[in-house]
Amino acid sequence: MLSKKQARAFFLGGTVVTFLIFIGLTVYSLSAAQDQSNIENLSESAIRGKYLWETNNCMGCHTIMGEGGYYAPELTKVVERRGEAYIKAALMSPVSWQPNGRKMVKYEMTEAQANDMVEFFKWIGEIDLNGFETVVSPLAKQ
Ligand code: HEC
Repeated sequence: MLSKKQARAFFLGGTVVTFLIFIGLTVYSLSAAQDQSNIENLSESAIRGKYLWETNNCMGCHTIMGEGGYYAPELTKVVERRGEAYIKAALMSPVSWQPNGRKMVKYEMTEAQANDMVEFFKWIGEIDLNGFETVVSPLAKQ
């Protein structure tokens, strides 16, 4: 059995060691080499696209990195999957986009707005997802 003195030393030693490990791992996580946000490629245009994404409630129906509504397809890798022209057609369409029956809101975006959205999707698509697989909603037909 540990004496009271030994128990105190054991407790203090353990606390100090785990605290130092915790600080070390925090510094490591925040170091530039660990950054996966793709922030160096964040353009003005992509920021405007993000603003459009938020102010038009795209997330009410779509997901990005799994976050959002499950009514319409996952969009993290949409540039890779559909290409720029397809995305712009969906956003600039004068009628509701509904290739498979389910309707998207008719946004009638201008060319400039659609370009900003594409830049936002490009930036999102190049983020290092650490192996996370984005799954397109099984309800949305391909
Ligand atoms: C009311 C729900 C709804 C909202 C809100 C919505 N969408 Fe959609 N979106 C859809 C549906 C439904 C489709 C077509 C899915 C299909 O192909 O069947 C679609 C398709 C798309 C596609 C083509 C995706 C693919 O893989 O075929 C893109 C890109 C897109 N939407 C972007 C956006 C953006 C950007 C916004 C916000 C400005 C937005 N959507 C808001 C429902 C929505």
